[in-house]
Amino acid sequence: MHKNKSDGFLEIAVKAVKLAGQIVVEHLGKISQTDIDIKQASDFVTVVDRESEKIIIDTIKERFPDHLFLAEESLKECGKETYRWIIDPLDGTTNYIHSYPVFSISIALEYAGEIIIGVTLDPLRNELFWAEKGSGAYVNCLPMEVSKVNIGESLVTTGFPFRSKEMIDTYLKLFKNLFLKVSDLRRAGSAALDLAYLACGRCDGFFELGLSPWDIAAGSLLIKEAGGIVTDFGGGNDYIWTGNIVAGNPAVQKEILEEVKKVFEGVTDK
Ligand code: IPD
Ligand code: CA
Ligand code: CA
Repeated sequence: MHKNKSDGFLEIAVKAVKLAGQIVVEHLGKISQTDIDIKQASDFVTVVDRESEKIIIDTIKERFPDHLFLAEESLKECGKETYRWIIDPLDGTTNYIHSYPVFSISIALEYAGEIIIGVTLDPLRNELFWAEKGSGAYVNCLPMEVSKVNIGESLVTTGFPFRSKEMIDTYLKLFKNLFLKVSDLRRAGSAALDLAYLACGRCDGFFELGLSPWDIAAGSLLIKEAGGIVTDFGGGNDYIWTGNIVAGNPAVQKEILEEVKKVFEGVTDK
């Protein structure tokens, strides 16, 4: 049974994410073509992603040798009734490769299928977004709260489906419907940071399809602890595993979800 707080989980997550942040910042603008591998079309991994992931796993393992890991670039471990760390060592790799200064490092801790710790670091702005289940969400020392604006005044963030380009027409239909309702839309390139910004009220809604657990795990807890709503495309709770996510303050999330349901009904099985 997981006990809340005082287990040292949050402290180790913060230590790991900050060590990784140092590596990421040190190498910014210094990587060459030979440091980059292509995972699939438009999907890259660099030596920095790998180094960052290694220091995170080593740091956590040293303190919690029995815990499992689901890490983007290496370990994919499974187990029941146990602690598992879900790690995105560099979220926004395409931005990073281009020295476009929007990227983050994101770590979550899952216990028996539930996210209990989430930390996302913007290493360039030294902004640490963190939450422990049941204890609120914070950016550095300040409590976070989602915004209160309605859809008409909202700034909504998203990500393009670059791994599933066959979905572009459906995606653009949704984009158009929402564009006509919201104040404006953004695609910045780090889903983990989009979710952290939502938690602290810098934007009001978010939707993306085809994400991975490590893009979403920490951010979903940040948002829920900050008073926001997170669902999958059907309005259910399976966003981490389907990768299809709609998040927002309660009013904006409801409106985006309605549009998502209209456009995606019958298009995905999720
Ligand atoms: C990507 C970013 C991006 C999102 C992609 C993700 P990565 O993560 O979060 O915003 O649109 O779907 O894969 O690959 O840079 O870790
Ligand atoms: Ca990612
Ligand atoms: Ca990544």
